[in-house]
Amino acid sequence: MRDNSHPYVHGHSDRESERLQYQASKLARLLHNGTRYPPKSGVLEVACGVGAQTVILAQNSPGAEFMSVDISPESLTKAKDRILQVGIPNVTFCQADIYDLPFASETFDHIFVCFLLEHIPDPILALINLKGILRPKGTITVIEGDHGSALFYPDNPDAHRVIDCLVQLQRQTGGNALIGRELWHLLTDAGFMDVTVSPRQVYADQSHPESIEAVKNIFIAMVEGVREPAIKRGLADKETWEKGIRDLYRTTEQDGSFCYTFFKAVGIKRG
Ligand SMILES: C[S@@+](CC[C@H](N)C(=O)[O-])C[C@H]1O[C@@H](n2cnc3c(N)ncnc32)[C@H](O)[C@@H]1O
Repeated sequence: MRDNSHPYVHGHSDRESERLQYQASKLARLLHNGTRYPPKSGVLEVACGVGAQTVILAQNSPGAEFMSVDISPESLTKAKDRILQVGIPNVTFCQADIYDLPFASETFDHIFVCFLLEHIPDPILALINLKGILRPKGTITVIEGDHGSALFYPDNPDAHRVIDCLVQLQRQTGGNALIGRELWHLLTDAGFMDVTVSPRQVYADQSHPESIEAVKNIFIAMVEGVREPAIKRGLADKETWEKGIRDLYRTTEQDGSFCYTFFKAVGIKRG
C-alpha cells in the first residue's frame, strides 16, 4: 500500500488557505490564459485544495461540468463553502487520493492539475493513473512552479538559503519544488502526446506595485510558512532564517526586482 504519511509541506492553516485564494486570483490571467472547456465536457480537477482554482475554472467554462477532488477533507469543506458563497452551479466535489481515484477508465474529457505534482513522490505514476480515466483525445493541463527559477536583485546567499530550505523540506516530504522544468519529460514519459509547455513569468519592480505585493503575499509568504519545520530540522538557524527572509523582502523595496517562472503543460491522450 502507498505511504501517504508524509505531511503536506504547506499545511492546511487558515493563513495558507488565504494565501492560496490570493495566489489564484492574482495569477488567474497568467495561469488560466488558454484554458477554456467546451459546454457539456466533463472536467476533472485534481487537488482542488480550498477551491481557489476551481472558482476560476468554473467561471471561465460555465457550460462544462467539473468534478474537483482533493485528499484533504478540511480543504474540501473550505472549497465547498467557497463555491456556495460565489454561487457556482457546475462543480461537484469528492475526496480522493490521486493514487487511488474512484473513477472508471475513460470517464473525463479533460483533466486539470495545479500545484500538486511538486508535492507527491511519484508524479509519473500519478499521470499514468490520470491518463487511464481520460477519454481518448482528451487533454491534460498541468501547472507547476519551480523555486529554482527565482531570480532577484539584490542577490543574496541568505535569501537563496531560505528558499533552499523549502526545496529541501519538500524533498524530505517526498516532493520536488524544482518540478516545473520537468513537465515536458514527465507528461511525455507518462505517455501523453503532443506535449507543449509554456513558461509563465511574474516580474516585479517598483514600477509594478501590484506585482510587488503579489511577490510578498505569494512567494515570500510561502517560504515564511515553513519557518518552524526548517529550523526544527536544522536546515537553518534562527538568525540565518530571519536574515534570509529580510533579504527576500529587500528585493521588493527601492531598487529591488524579483522574477519567478511558472510552467504550464498540456498533453493529449492518444486517440
Ligand atoms: C498547493 S495545494 C494546491 C491547491 C489548488 N490546486 C490551488 O492551486 O490552489 C496542493 C493540494 O494537493 C493536495 N494533495 C496532496 N497530496 C494529494 C494526493 N495524493 N491526492 C490528492 N490531493 C493531494 C493537498 O491536500 C492540497 O490541497
